[in-house]
Amino acid sequence: MKETTAIAHPNFALVKYWGKKDSNQNRPAMSSISITVDSMQSKTKIFKNKLSNCHQFFINGKEETDLSRIYPSLFYLSEISKSDDYLVIQSENNFPTSSGLASSASGIASFVTAYDAHYDLNLEMSNKIEACILGSGSAPRSLIGGFVLMDHKNNYSCTQVLSKADWPVDVLICLASKETKKISSRQGMEISKRTSPLYQDWLCRNDKDISLALEAIKEKDMSRLENVTEENCNFMHEVMKTSKPPIIYMNEVTHSCVAEIENLRASGHKLFYTVDAGPQIKIICDPKSTNTIKDTIAQKTDVIDIIHTGLGGSPRIIDEN
Ligand code: PMV
Repeated sequence: MKETTAIAHPNFALVKYWGKKDSNQNRPAMSSISITVDSMQSKTKIFKNKLSNCHQFFINGKEETDLSRIYPSLFYLSEISKSDDYLVIQSENNFPTSSGLASSASGIASFVTAYDAHYDLNLEMSNKIEACILGSGSAPRSLIGGFVLMDHKNNYSCTQVLSKADWPVDVLICLASKETKKISSRQGMEISKRTSPLYQDWLCRNDKDISLALEAIKEKDMSRLENVTEENCNFMHEVMKTSKPPIIYMNEVTHSCVAEIENLRASGHKLFYTVDAGPQIKIICDPKSTNTIKDTIAQKTDVIDIIHTGLGGSPRIIDEN
């Protein structure tokens, strides 16, 4: 029986999207810039379901009863493949799921990559982007390695700004909690769009933040990238906090990491942080400082774990036999 397996890596936004174009679409209302990382990964295997007339979806070995997240991408792809196969989709993450570590982005990107290869579709990039967006607005960025721009004014085109080889920064993911998030990003974005008095300002600053970040990345300027990334992240968390009800993803451990990052910076290390829809804090740093940063954060805060990774590449098919 034919089985196809693909691996994709999560990505973390430096200039973030938080808000959709309109509520029944899954399209981001703004552009974003992210980094795709390497050692963290989603591995998704697909094959025809010979045992039952339904699609079955497993995450880390557990069957999901709610397929609403994967269906839009699956239906979009089956329109192209003209296949009426029922599939078994088995996805595994080698990192915590649904806790602000972008498992939905890498999960969907690995599924789309596996589907494309399984049915020999040779999809255009624009079709892969569309299939990904239907599952997760940030997933298209996982189709490309390194620093990636997703441009909402150009049909969500995704382009690499710099590769890992161009600027091999290190990434430290500090786990502040292993709990799954209580408010999904999809719900949170909807609440913020409806209720936050800062939402319009958030939309308006996107163009400026994108161009500042693009310049800083192209010039490999860590301190300019730090300014725009941290300001963008903190503004997004203000939008979340000023929503009704307030949405708070950071916890005490996140805040203690921020304090240590500021101390490390004051003593000359090159690093900056970003935080998504969860308490985990991601540190981007000069590899010369990685060990000192890792030891300091481990000793001075209550982080559960620190995952050390670098920039990664695009998804790939693997042969498991
Ligand atoms: O599209 P989602 O559900 O993966 O939302 C991503 C939201 C953030 O991670 C907070 C920001 C971003 O651009 O990745």
